[in-house]
Amino acid sequence: MSIATTDLAGLVQPAKGTVSRQVYVDQGIYDHELERIFTRSWLFLGHTSQLAQPGDFLTTYMGEDPVIVARGKDGQVRAMLNSCRHRGMRVCRSDEGNTSFFRCPYHAWTYSNTGELTGVPKFRLGYGGVLDKKEWGLLEVPRVEEYGGFLFGNWDAGAVPLTEWLGDFRLYFDLVFGRDPEGVEFVGGVHKWSVRSNWKIPTENFACDMYHVAHSHARSMEIGLLGPSGDDGYEIAAGMGFLGNGFGPPASADAEGAPVHPMATMATPYSEHLAAQRARVAERYSQEMSRVVPGGHGNVFPNFAFLDIELLRLVRVHHPEGPGSHTVHQWCVVDKSLPAEVKDALRRQYTLTFGPSGMLEQDDGENFRECQASMRGVIGRRMENNLMLGLGQDRTGAEIVGDGDAPGAGGGIWSEANQRRWYEHWLSFMTGQVRR
Ligand code: FES
Ligand code: FE
Repeated sequence: MSIATTDLAGLVQPAKGTVSRQVYVDQGIYDHELERIFTRSWLFLGHTSQLAQPGDFLTTYMGEDPVIVARGKDGQVRAMLNSCRHRGMRVCRSDEGNTSFFRCPYHAWTYSNTGELTGVPKFRLGYGGVLDKKEWGLLEVPRVEEYGGFLFGNWDAGAVPLTEWLGDFRLYFDLVFGRDPEGVEFVGGVHKWSVRSNWKIPTENFACDMYHVAHSHARSMEIGLLGPSGDDGYEIAAGMGFLGNGFGPPASADAEGAPVHPMATMATPYSEHLAAQRARVAERYSQEMSRVVPGGHGNVFPNFAFLDIELLRLVRVHHPEGPGSHTVHQWCVVDKSLPAEVKDALRRQYTLTFGPSGMLEQDDGENFRECQASMRGVIGRRMENNLMLGLGQDRTGAEIVGDGDAPGAGGGIWSEANQRRWYEHWLSFMTGQVRR
């Protein structure tokens, strides 16, 4: 019997703070995730700044399914399964570009940028007029919606609207991506790399794991890439929020804006821009709410993640690729109204730190790969992982941020409350209890 049909609730016990290692290595559980989670969740597709003109497109994945996301000649953004209706070839192999059509490399069936089948070689001779092109367009993802320029798709036509999916987490999403009156833009194209670890391992890290920073990234602190080394001052009331389908970010500054943990500061010379952002947030919401600027890291269930340090921001998706592997798609994100030289400096800083060869990404890539390697053995996989940090110490969002209107709840900075809540969520999808 596949383990996916046994008692999943016995494997994952968020209230106790334990997770069976089977969830990282078992093929049956993985297949169940693709079916239960990835066909029913809002999955990040891209940003409108990447698809500004009719014909602009990018390619990505929804679970393991490849998709093309394109702004059609009619101006509408669609997501379509990147699989030729003839015999299944991936129709588009480019990361991004602009085109009026997609031509399959195998036998050259051609589709418009709105997905209709428009060209079939030997149409008259070979198909004798019996092929109805209208029936054989690319399969369209039934729901594509946008929040603040961030495009998400869902295979479930009956899914709740994206805004409802994000719920009260929208406030924190706005605090990360909506601080600039002009919004954000994606710069420098996509970075892609594969890591031999289950997709949930980096997802737990982004959910958000502050516990590892001072240890895994100690060298980066020593050379000034991150804030001051050691634990000094980090016990101040920082915390994390989780609500709806969002997890993190923490309140990472004190009421005066001083950082309270290492992820809150990097040695950048652009602090006046950050101070201006914090002042705007204080004016729009409250002084206390501006403590969430910058926000460390966080994610939106299941596999969209973000990081926010000073002015540096990135977003990424952990695409599942079998139980033992995932591929990261990651972009550098900057505030639109920043001067061009600041945007360029941020892009370079992003590459140095969290790009595929960045110092901090190298630290974490090794963490993720080595966790997987030690858990996949026949003995290692029988054990449980421990998510007990901060168990029983949850506080409300209002207590964490110090503003009575701050929604959600969370743990302190030394807490795996978000990870526990994430697995509660995972369990509700996997056992079919999720609301629609
Ligand atoms: Fe695409 Fe044949 S598989 S044209
Ligand atoms: Fe890290």
